[in-house]
Amino acid sequence: MVDSLALDAVRRLSTGLRRLGDGTDDATTRTDLLHGAWLAGTCLGAVGMSLHHKLCHTLGGSFDLPHAATHTVVLPHAMAYNAAAAPEAMRRIADALDVADAPSGLHDLISRAGGPLALRDLGLGESDIAAVARKAVEKPYPNPAALTREGIEDLLRAAWAGERPQAPASATPGRITEQVVASFAGTPDVRLRRLLTDLVPRLHAFAVENDLTQAEWQTGMDFLTRAGQISNAGRQEFVLLSDTIGLSSVVDLLTNSRTPDSTPSAVLGPFYVEGPPELDQGADIARGLAGTPLYVDVAVTGTDGSPIADAVVDVWQSNDDGFYDVQLPDLDGPVLRGRLRTDTEGRLRFWSILPCEYPIPDDGPVGSMLAATGRHPYRAPHLHFMIGATGYTQLITQLFVQGGEYLDSDAVFGVKDDLIVDFAERSGPTPDSRAVDGPWRSVEFTFRLAGGGE
Ligand code: BEZ
Ligand code: FE
Repeated sequence: MVDSLALDAVRRLSTGLRRLGDGTDDATTRTDLLHGAWLAGTCLGAVGMSLHHKLCHTLGGSFDLPHAATHTVVLPHAMAYNAAAAPEAMRRIADALDVADAPSGLHDLISRAGGPLALRDLGLGESDIAAVARKAVEKPYPNPAALTREGIEDLLRAAWAGERPQAPASATPGRITEQVVASFAGTPDVRLRRLLTDLVPRLHAFAVENDLTQAEWQTGMDFLTRAGQISNAGRQEFVLLSDTIGLSSVVDLLTNSRTPDSTPSAVLGPFYVEGPPELDQGADIARGLAGTPLYVDVAVTGTDGSPIADAVVDVWQSNDDGFYDVQLPDLDGPVLRGRLRTDTEGRLRFWSILPCEYPIPDDGPVGSMLAATGRHPYRAPHLHFMIGATGYTQLITQLFVQGGEYLDSDAVFGVKDDLIVDFAERSGPTPDSRAVDGPWRSVEFTFRLAGGGE
C-alpha cells in the first residue's frame, strides 16, 4: 500500500514540477503537487527513515541548513548511494519519474524546476563535510546500502559541489562496445590495437543491426568450433573459410597486386607443402600419373622484361581426379609438386598433366555453408606457382586453363583475367622429343616479378 502511494506521489510531484519548470503554473499543476505532497507525507508516517533523513537532520539540526532545500539537494545523492542495494525500487521510481535512471533523473528534474542543487549554496562549508559524515555513521540505523564514512563523505562532497549523480553504466550494446574498445587502449602493439579497435565495433554492429538471436550466435560458434575440430596439418578449414568468403583474395589483392606491370597474384590455397622435392628442368612432376600430358614452358623476368636466372619456382597441382597428393594418404608422394629453378635465360620447362576442375574439400562446415547458400564447391582448373628470386618480391599465383569449367564462378574467387591462358592442344613431336602417345597440351607464360623483395 505504501509503495503504491509513494509511486503515485513520485508521478504527481514529477509531473507538477516539470510543468512548473516549463512555466505552466496553473490549478492542475498545483493540484498535482499538493496531492503528491500529501501522498508522500502519508508514506513518511508509515515507514522508517534511513540515510537521506539522517543526513538532512544532521545538516539542519547541527549546521542550520534550510529544511526543504536541504532535502532537495541531498535526495538524488542519497538515492545514488543506495541505488545498487535497492535496484527494484530504483527501477520503479525511474518508471514513475519517466527517466532511465532514478538518481540522475531526479537531479535533472530539480534542475529543470529551478530547485537548489548544491549544499555549498545553502551555506555548508566544505570543511564541515567530515563532521557531517562522522555524525551520520555514529549511530547505526537501517539503510539498504552499508554505511561507510568514506562513502558518505563522497556522497556529501558530490552534494556540496552540486554534481549530477552518475547513472550506472547500463548494459546497452553501445556501452559494451565502448568498454571493449577501451579495454584495448593499453595494447602495446599499435597495429594490433588498431585492428582490434576496428574489428570489434564492426562485429557488435553486425549483431545489433541484424538483431542477432542467441540461437544464431550459437550456430556461428558451433560452426567455428567444427572448423577447428576438422582442421589438421593436411586440412585447413579456416583457410577454406577465408577463401570461400573471398577474404583471402581481398587480402591477396591488397598485399600483392600493387604493381600494374607485375603478374597478378592468386591465393595460396591450403595444399602448398613447404620444401617440395627438388627437380631438374624437363622433369615430369606427374611421375607417370594418368592424365593429358602437359608441357609447361615459362619464363621469369623483372617488370622490364629482363630474365631472372636461378629463380626458385615451386609448382603444385591436383591429379586427374581433382585431388592433391596430401589428400591421398595411400599415394606414394610427393607427386604433382616440385621445386625447379630457371636457367640462365630465366626459362623453365617441365612436364605435368592438364589440371582439371576439382571441388574444394566440402565435407566440413565450409561445405555446409556452400550447400546452405546454394553454391558449388568447384575451382576452375589451374596450376599453382610460387616464385622467389633474390631482389624480387615473391609471387604466388595460378595459371587458369582457358575454356575450363567454373572460370566465372570459382569457389574461392581466385580467377583473374590476366591469369587465364591458352593450354594449347597439340599432337605429334614434343619440344624435348619426349615420346607421347596421342594428344598433349602446352602452356607458355612469362611471370613478371616486381622488384624490391628479398
Ligand atoms: C587451391 O587452389 O589449391 C585451393 C585454393 C583455395 C581453397 C581450396 C583449394
Ligand atoms: Fe589448387
